[in-house]
Amino acid sequence: MLIQVRGVVKSYVKGSETVLVLDGVDLDVDAGEWVSLMGPSGSGKTTLLNLIGGLDVPDSGSICVNDDEMVGRTNAELAAWRSRNVGYIFQLYNLLPVLDAFQNVEMPLLLTNLSRKERREHVMTALDLVGLSDRIDHYPAQLSGGQNQRVAIARAIVADPAFLLADEPTGDLDRKSAEDVLNLLQDLHTRFKKAIVMVTHDPHCAERADRLVHLEKGVIVADT
Ligand SMILES: Nc1ncnc2c1ncn2[C@@H]1O[C@H](COP(=O)(O)OP(=O)(O)OP(=O)(O)O)[C@@H](O)[C@H]1O
Ligand SMILES: [Mg+2]
Repeated sequence: MLIQVRGVVKSYVKGSETVLVLDGVDLDVDAGEWVSLMGPSGSGKTTLLNLIGGLDVPDSGSICVNDDEMVGRTNAELAAWRSRNVGYIFQLYNLLPVLDAFQNVEMPLLLTNLSRKERREHVMTALDLVGLSDRIDHYPAQLSGGQNQRVAIARAIVADPAFLLADEPTGDLDRKSAEDVLNLLQDLHTRFKKAIVMVTHDPHCAERADRLVHLEKGVIVADT
């Protein structure tokens, strides 16, 4: 088992109110598995993804990755763990506008002890994989939405993580670019055995996964 989520509870405090967002979530994701996470707006999908990726911590419950418990770690430990194990893909790419494609993809590697030459090799491999070797010195503003998302995918895989977390990765793209991004995820899944947890509102995108998990009001209501 790659990811094991058990009894995870998460609430946010807004002023005097406490909002319960995840109400005891259990979820297993196998190594190399592709899971689609669907559910209404506000059901807790992004919150769950952030907890799995170590971007946030639950109030209670357990999150194990490769049998390592993530809950209870310090922020510094989580940051180091994230840089080696998790690739993140966001709806709006989250690329830095002042960096070109090469520099954006190189970012996660600056936290490692790879040499400059090794970093260059990894970055070129990742950009080649997403079909953008001829755009390495382009800035985000000089690329289309679909190309920017492919740069973001190159950044997510450059450190060779075991799993990818994607939050509505095609949400801002036209049909053709969305299809390109899904084909790329498919490729990473089948050729490189990456596990993927993908949030999507589009049933057509969700179908590409091995498994469909439905979240409603912070509870998993279907898993097929
Ligand atoms: N940092 C935060 N502080 C306070 N409340 C938050 C915070 N993050 C999320 N919430 C609340 O938690 C609930 C779930 O949010 P979440 O972003 O996980 O939903 P979602 O399923 O991803 O929705 P969407 O499909 O719209 O992206 C919402 O009611 C939201 O307002
Ligand atoms: Mg969300």
